[in-house]
Amino acid sequence: MWRGVHSGPGLKKGRINVKHRALLVVAGLVGAATLIVSLSVAAAGTSRPTAHAAPAKSAAIAPPKVPNAAAIKAKYHGQKITFVGDSVGGLHARDLALAKRFQKDTGIKVNVVPHPAASDASFAQLARNFSSKSSAFDVMMVDVVWPGAFAPYLVNLKPKLGKAAKAHVAGIIQNDTIGGKLVAMPWFGDYGILYYRSDLLKKYGYSAPPKTWTQLFAMAKKIQDGEKKSNDNFSGFVFQGNAYEGLTCDALEWIASAGGGHIIDNGKVTIDNKNARTILDAMRAQIGKITPKNVTTFQEDQTANGFVSGNAAFARNWPYMYSIAAGADSKVKGKFNVSVLPHGAKGGSVGTVGGWQLAVSKYSKHKDAAIEFVRYATSAGVERYNAIAYSLVPTRTAVAKDKAVVKTNPYLKPAIASVPRVTRPAKFLKGKYNAGSKVIYQGVNEILQGQSASRVLPSIKSKLQRLLR
Ligand code: GLC
Repeated sequence: MWRGVHSGPGLKKGRINVKHRALLVVAGLVGAATLIVSLSVAAAGTSRPTAHAAPAKSAAIAPPKVPNAAAIKAKYHGQKITFVGDSVGGLHARDLALAKRFQKDTGIKVNVVPHPAASDASFAQLARNFSSKSSAFDVMMVDVVWPGAFAPYLVNLKPKLGKAAKAHVAGIIQNDTIGGKLVAMPWFGDYGILYYRSDLLKKYGYSAPPKTWTQLFAMAKKIQDGEKKSNDNFSGFVFQGNAYEGLTCDALEWIASAGGGHIIDNGKVTIDNKNARTILDAMRAQIGKITPKNVTTFQEDQTANGFVSGNAAFARNWPYMYSIAAGADSKVKGKFNVSVLPHGAKGGSVGTVGGWQLAVSKYSKHKDAAIEFVRYATSAGVERYNAIAYSLVPTRTAVAKDKAVVKTNPYLKPAIASVPRVTRPAKFLKGKYNAGSKVIYQGVNEILQGQSASRVLPSIKSKLQRLLR
């Protein structure tokens, strides 16, 4: 592994051994808590840290035509489906563009409804919909941690999309296969990365991004102290601190990268340990010091607003923010770069596995038309469009090697993409994952708001143990 190749602040950039050019697309969720899926990629990316890729040009690339449209049209023309789609960043606009293209080519009308921005609120919306056996939603976005809980309400896509599934990363297909049924098709992957202001690092005398959390805290403070003189809104570091699913993802990264385990390991709750306490208390100490005081209410959108408006030195977010930060309306266009997240004294860099799938409701009245929409939205053409215009991580291995995709998505470089991926403890909590995650993010949010980790972790532990029983 290349772990630890970035040099610390003030030193020259590290060397990255990519003799074999392993490009990690995204890790699956089945099996071990830390799992890496790597592909041998002939010539993707470059081993040296490069200048910024050209900003994503959403206007320059349009949604691709629907393959096989005439046959689909002949069968399903005139049917209406509702798609519960994205709401983060510019992704609702993307959904509308895809729906428009699909409708034009096939005659199937797609009504796009954005889901609530927080993943767990979106989970609750779908849970209500399924429990009332409603046919209101035909196609829905499914977070990578939900297939276990929603499998009973989703159509088995294997008969129609099983062949297409072979082109996606095997680990994700495994994650989306429950009891032998393919209940969702991978749409895009996700992993936590560090965004940093390359111009400001240079201005304050740093030649590389931080390797450890302690370095990040120190660099963020120095840059913030300097920048605050001319910009009162400036902060050193922004991330997802609100009590919601995103904080479970961030906290898992902090804990795992500090040698504190994966919250639940081998079926046992491990979160109440010294390394976890140390890193969580260290994060608490930064609130209001290098972060905005209200970072404890930030989700992805607030994080992106802070960074893209030029008001933060460092941000933790998913790859989708790359295209926004590199876009025409960004204040940081050409002034930022991405890297792996820092680690603690005792661990190595990690990224939490995220990502979204598309599924069809068992209660849909137009299942076949809905499946055709899923086939289109998860096709190579659309994954390529998603990656180039919206910096979404492809789940199709061939798309991840596409030259234009690699060029516009520098986080796909082995140096960043090959970091170990930690998966949320969905495997152990199974259908109770969302309840377990709530325990985790509520507890961690209390810590960020001022409670000491040694007070909160024992209660997180006992509540998780109850859920595991
Ligand atoms: C991203 C990830 C998803 C995660 C969510 C948390 O959307 O893809 O897996 O649950 O962020 O906010």
